[in-house]
Amino acid sequence: MPEAQRILVIHGPNLNLLGSREPDVYGATTLAEIDRALEAAGKEAGASLEFFQSNHEGELVERIQAAAGAAEGILINPAGLTHTSVVLRDALLATGLPVVEVHLSNVHARESFRRTSLVSDVAVGVVCGFGPASYRLGLTGLLSHLQGSP
Ligand code: DQA
Repeated sequence: MPEAQRILVIHGPNLNLLGSREPDVYGATTLAEIDRALEAAGKEAGASLEFFQSNHEGELVERIQAAAGAAEGILINPAGLTHTSVVLRDALLATGLPVVEVHLSNVHARESFRRTSLVSDVAVGVVCGFGPASYRLGLTGLLSHLQGSP
């Protein structure tokens, strides 16, 4: 049996509040529910997922750095740091790992500052606007990239 693909799933600031945070924008699903569903989808696809959420940029950077050599890919919702964080982008690049960026909301249909991402151009792909399904779709894309699909 082939080795499970190891995927690090990163959730940025304020995503710990999902379920109660602006439910009209982000829905009623909690982060724990998202992680559970994603873990099941990963298992079915032969991947083993590790999850990390932090409200602190430095902690996110340290967790991302630790993924080099320990994971095959990174699925990340950088949340508000998407639009501002050079250090998060640099940390992702430093791993040399393929990255998929996901967002629950359609960031292009909101305030104009959300249309800028410092992560998108270093990601192999971006999924946004599908609520919790963005994560599942992003995982499918990342795994298919790792399997060498164009
Ligand atoms: C988000 C979109 C970001 O603009 C926002 O700052 C978030 C969540 C999303 O998943 O839709 O915190 O990344």
